[in-house]
Amino acid sequence: MESNGELRRTCGCGELRSRHTGQDVVLMGWVQRRRDHGGVIFLDLRDRSGVVQAVLSPDLEARAFEKGQAVRAEYVIAVQGEVRRRPPGTENPNMPTGEVEVALRDLRILNPAKSLPFYPSEAAEVDEALRLRYRYLDLRRPEFWRAFELRHQAAKVIRDFLTRRGFLEIETPMLTRSTPEGARDYLVPSRIYPGHFYALPQSPQLFKQILMVAGFERYFQFARCFRDEDLRADRQPEFTQLDLEMSFVGEDEILSLMEEMLAELFYRLLGKELEIPFPRLKYQEALSYYGSEQPDLRFGMKIVDLSQLLGNSSCQVFARAVKEGGVVKGITVPGGTAFSRRVLDELAKLVVSWGARGLGWFLLGDGEIKSPLAKFFTSQELKVLAKKMEGQPGALLLLIADRKEVAERVLGQLRLELGRRLNLIDPRLFSFVWITDFPLLEYNKDQGRLEAIHHPFTAPCEADLTFLEKDPEKVRARAYDLILNGTEIGGGSIRNHRRDLQERLFRIIGLTPGEIDEKFGFLLEALDSGAPPHGGIAFGFDRLMMLMLERETIRDVIAFPKTQSATCLLTQAPAPVTSKQLRELHLLYREKTSK
Ligand code: AMO
Repeated sequence: MESNGELRRTCGCGELRSRHTGQDVVLMGWVQRRRDHGGVIFLDLRDRSGVVQAVLSPDLEARAFEKGQAVRAEYVIAVQGEVRRRPPGTENPNMPTGEVEVALRDLRILNPAKSLPFYPSEAAEVDEALRLRYRYLDLRRPEFWRAFELRHQAAKVIRDFLTRRGFLEIETPMLTRSTPEGARDYLVPSRIYPGHFYALPQSPQLFKQILMVAGFERYFQFARCFRDEDLRADRQPEFTQLDLEMSFVGEDEILSLMEEMLAELFYRLLGKELEIPFPRLKYQEALSYYGSEQPDLRFGMKIVDLSQLLGNSSCQVFARAVKEGGVVKGITVPGGTAFSRRVLDELAKLVVSWGARGLGWFLLGDGEIKSPLAKFFTSQELKVLAKKMEGQPGALLLLIADRKEVAERVLGQLRLELGRRLNLIDPRLFSFVWITDFPLLEYNKDQGRLEAIHHPFTAPCEADLTFLEKDPEKVRARAYDLILNGTEIGGGSIRNHRRDLQERLFRIIGLTPGEIDEKFGFLLEALDSGAPPHGGIAFGFDRLMMLMLERETIRDVIAFPKTQSATCLLTQAPAPVTSKQLRELHLLYREKTSK
């Protein structure tokens, strides 16, 4: 290899196997590690295909050996040499290329690397802020490549599936008007129209509906969405949805098509056979059995309603709660008698910190039931309670008497906490459930008005239309969410395709005729121009990938994520702009005031 000659890479580092023995190869990549064993230098050379060991010795090529002494970790180099079997006893069964090594004749430094804040091999132990600041170093880890390869493959499988089913991928604008999805908008000031702003889309909701009015019938898009909201491990200000919409369909067609798509995705990518159809739970059932609209069904421990059984008991805590219109509910913890008194006290404190008044507990021994509340019950009553809660000997019964919402929510949290502590959750399971029959509207006390729970374009159940004005919170929505392992991965609905109903809903959520016209005039006009019945769904693509890859945060499946406080540590965005830019945009910056 002439040092000035053109280099041509012949294969990837990770591709080499014993069958390549004797071949001359040119490799290019990063030095993952350099070990100097006196007369011999070993380099672990890495590229996207994997890692291979390269060997330099002065006997083979003195100049290459000399250069080899200069290289350091993360230098980018090109090498030429012969693939040979490693000497017996030095093979590394943990490396796919572990049977071979490359004896180098030439080495060229393509680019040195300075001493780095951290090295990819040690990144797992490095603080996340530092990893995000030097994201390119963190992303050099093979586990990230695997994640992004899976993400790429997933998008491809989905595109192919939807293409076969007659969907068209269509892009919708980024600079648009705000669509109410419940979060704050990211705004983009207009230079041409002083005081006017575009909003970055919270979702392509209205555009996809308008595509249905246009007659496309089946649309999908991997859509970037922007929401200025409080961030969590599964929320980013900028994220990707797999968004789709269909005409002339009802809920069942949409849900079963999505089940087929996910079954194909999980089978093709993970070799997992999903059981379809997925179970469905009504919103009210999800709350009353699991205390959450995003129930994790990988384990049982369903919440049991004990209000009837205990509402008349001589235990005042229970009786009073029921008399005041509340409930008594509980969960059964198998094997929970093993909990010490200290753990029980800790659980009681936990539920109080979550907003409950207290926690009642009953330990089911062999024939004997222990509890500070036992004195209020006959032994027969205790037996009936244990039976109702399907408590076997060794189980612990945990009860909460409170307002219905509080008891369910807190027991739901407690169920998850105990499921985790007791290792009841099999991490290899993928447990899907559709939640249906959501209420359409809910009263927002702060705003003093009704609000759409999904978004205001969701259709009400036909059967409930008569309550729309009289008892609006009773009206159910034709909406559905898909939950995977306790995380909401998708949501959608059948839409209002008739102008009159859509306008009626806008009025119910408190919009004045002027506001309706100003904000949604274009939509109403479109609905009035021959709009087919239609509905759709959007999946949080990042969340889906996070769960498929068994990661804890969606930051692991987004190449350049933001921090929990919505900053990009790599580019230091958001950043101030010049006063000239502000002037051009007709903006005046005011120092932050403390409200
Ligand atoms: P929705 O608001 O429920 O519905 O969003 C759909 C899915 O997007 C994901 N998601 C997020 N992922 C990451 N970061 C966020 N900040 C974030 N917010 C939401 C969730 C959620 O289930 N237009 C409607 C869909 C429709 O009606 O067709 C919509 O956007 O996984």
